[in-house]
Amino acid sequence: MKQNMFDIIKLGGSIITDKQEYKKLKTEILRDICSVIAAWNKNVIIVHGAGSFGHILAKKHSIVSGYTDSTQLVGLTNIRIDVNELSQSIVKTLKEQGIPAIGFQTSALFFDEREETNPSFFKEPLKKALTLGLIPVLSGDILFTNKKDFTIHSGDSLINLLVQEFDVDRVIFITDVDGLMVKDSKLDGVERLSSIPLDKLSQIELADYSKRDLVDVTGTMKGKVETISSIGQFVNQVIIVNGNDSERISKVLRKEPTICTIVEGKKSTKR
Ligand code: IPE
Repeated sequence: MKQNMFDIIKLGGSIITDKQEYKKLKTEILRDICSVIAAWNKNVIIVHGAGSFGHILAKKHSIVSGYTDSTQLVGLTNIRIDVNELSQSIVKTLKEQGIPAIGFQTSALFFDEREETNPSFFKEPLKKALTLGLIPVLSGDILFTNKKDFTIHSGDSLINLLVQEFDVDRVIFITDVDGLMVKDSKLDGVERLSSIPLDKLSQIELADYSKRDLVDVTGTMKGKVETISSIGQFVNQVIIVNGNDSERISKVLRKEPTICTIVEGKKSTKR
């Protein structure tokens, strides 16, 4: 069944949790974001990062590199418990705002058979939920694989798979930064890109994000830009907006101008 075009929203782990403190949820920010999404009232898939509910233990147990010994298994168990707890908090907060959200366990829907190709996934439950008007909530999670046995599946790579399967208008990354910050050669400082065509993305010189990348097992800001380059092939726009200001999110959702970065995707030219 063909879906109408919809957006995907990524709630970054650094905006909904304190990434330095194990399992620290930013309850108020989460509530503000959910209320803005509720007021907007459109079909959407929500993907959230794991923040300190995932990265700290994933790093401790070297989950990204795959199976090395059985002591990692308790790490996997705990990561699943913690990510599930975070997902439940998000689904409940959305529900309290009147959104018919429904949580899906990402690690149960995806499997990486060969690594050189995209992981396969069981799409039907998501499609059915969307058709019914439910708002699916997925997350960065563990990914079981044939080669390494397991690894970590970031919310960003998950979105990269979703945009290839669904008819997606925009992907909106709600983060803790104002947008893509690049080096400004003239002022010897940094500046925000307000908009950029996809073709130009590989040429930008990113500002220094090294401090914030420290507790992140799924990659750096540079890696995020690479994922955005891929996502942009399949959607009309990829947007990065700061979730500390719910007014900005509200404007982005309504397609009104605000402080953010808009990457103009390739979908429109492909049609
Ligand atoms: C990470 O997902 C998943 C785990 C570590 C279990 P993400 O990479 O999407 O999370 P954030 O947004 O960086 O926190």
